[in-house]
Amino acid sequence: MRLVVAALAMMMMLSARGFRVPTSPTKRLSSLSSSPSPNFTPTPDLISYLTSSPTPQYITAPMVAQSDLAFRTLTRNHGATLTYTQMLHARNFVSSKSFRDDNYDFNPKLEGLKYNNPPLIAQIAGDDVKFMTEAAQILADSGVDGIDINLGCPQAIARKGNYGAYLLPQTELTTEIVRSIKKKLPTTPLTAKIRIQDNIYDTLTIAGKLQEAGVEMLTVHGRTLKENKTLTRQANWDAISQVVRHLDIPVIANGGIEDSRDVHAILETTAAVGCMSSEALLENPSLYDFQNVLPADCSSRVVLDRQVKLCKEYIELAKLYPPVGNGRFGGHSAVKAHVFKMLYIAFSSPKFQDLRNNLGHKKTHKIEQTEEIVNDLESRLNMATDEDIDFPSTFSWYRRHRQPLVVKPTINKNAAKEEINVRLKALKERRTERMNSLTGA
Ligand SMILES: Cc1cc2nc3c(=O)[nH]c(=O)nc-3n(C[C@H](O)[C@H](O)[C@H](O)COP(=O)(O)O)c2cc1C
Repeated sequence: MRLVVAALAMMMMLSARGFRVPTSPTKRLSSLSSSPSPNFTPTPDLISYLTSSPTPQYITAPMVAQSDLAFRTLTRNHGATLTYTQMLHARNFVSSKSFRDDNYDFNPKLEGLKYNNPPLIAQIAGDDVKFMTEAAQILADSGVDGIDINLGCPQAIARKGNYGAYLLPQTELTTEIVRSIKKKLPTTPLTAKIRIQDNIYDTLTIAGKLQEAGVEMLTVHGRTLKENKTLTRQANWDAISQVVRHLDIPVIANGGIEDSRDVHAILETTAAVGCMSSEALLENPSLYDFQNVLPADCSSRVVLDRQVKLCKEYIELAKLYPPVGNGRFGGHSAVKAHVFKMLYIAFSSPKFQDLRNNLGHKKTHKIEQTEEIVNDLESRLNMATDEDIDFPSTFSWYRRHRQPLVVKPTINKNAAKEEINVRLKALKERRTERMNSLTGA
């Protein structure tokens, strides 16, 4: 009964916001299992906080090696209302203190509803019921607002570890994990993030089972497991909207957001309670700053000015809250990866190739060095003519997999020669290293 009242209230709220309110599900859909378990009481905190808001939720996706505290804070400063930690592998998280120290960076001074801060959800992954439950317990005790189960990761490592999108169709196991966490942590909001299946019937069946087991909010990425990396396609918003209509719990729509206009479009099309973005937000962390959206036809200089400003703001935050961990993904590598994406347009030009190379160099491992590169780029952009930095408006980090890049680097024989030389030198170095290791030199 409570859920019916909540669903009606939500429909009225969505309608008041001008969203297209979902019509009743078709007969075929209503035959699928979707009612929550009778023993399951929705928790009043995070979920009601999110669903009672007069505006939709604008969400920063969970992102391995890119959901650091500084980046979460940056997106919050520019309109994000809910953020996630990166995916935390449950077994590693439970068994290793150094893994926790290197990957988990919740900060109650800046986040967590119980500390009067914006909410944070911690995401876990794995196929072991015991480890998943223990990881959820440790995270809940540390003060995050909710636990999310990753049932959408399409990477090879997820196939090997039987988690993410590979675990999703194994509904007996996923629902066992959900029930076990719910039993242990009845008052901690539990959410899940899924990908759509090849057909809508399977998507709705799986979503319904997760809801029935106790999941209180579901994020739906409107792409299938195969639609990944270079096979990334336009996300299927219609499938997301069918899940919204089918379930009683709030649904977050994810996938295919390129700019601020798409944020409104996905919410209007799907009637989801929130929109989650990843790649577009990595490039433009002010995606949700609707007061300051740039006109579609503005010059590259205006776009680059905004990008440099955001990048500098991120660097200041990263000085205050350096990303945890080290190695290829954590620590300063995370900072460099953010800077690269925010300044992708400029770094793709042969004119700034040297700065791109410097940023990528392994000797660039301190925030001051990265800051210097950004400052250099800023002064060179200031000195450049408008023609020098006139990139097609379709050129961006977001588009790199989505269509052939429209930009053709200006043919510059010297730059091309230089690039070939750099590549040859790197190949030669790698070969010498290999030979040395073989001969024990
Ligand atoms: C760098 C990167 C890391 C990601 N890591 C995670 C993760 O840890 N957990 C997860 O559920 N999804 C992860 N994703 C997927 C995103 O959360 C999101 O579902 C996907 O990128 C589609 O959204 P988009 O079209 O807005 O990019 C990652 C995506 C990117 C680009």
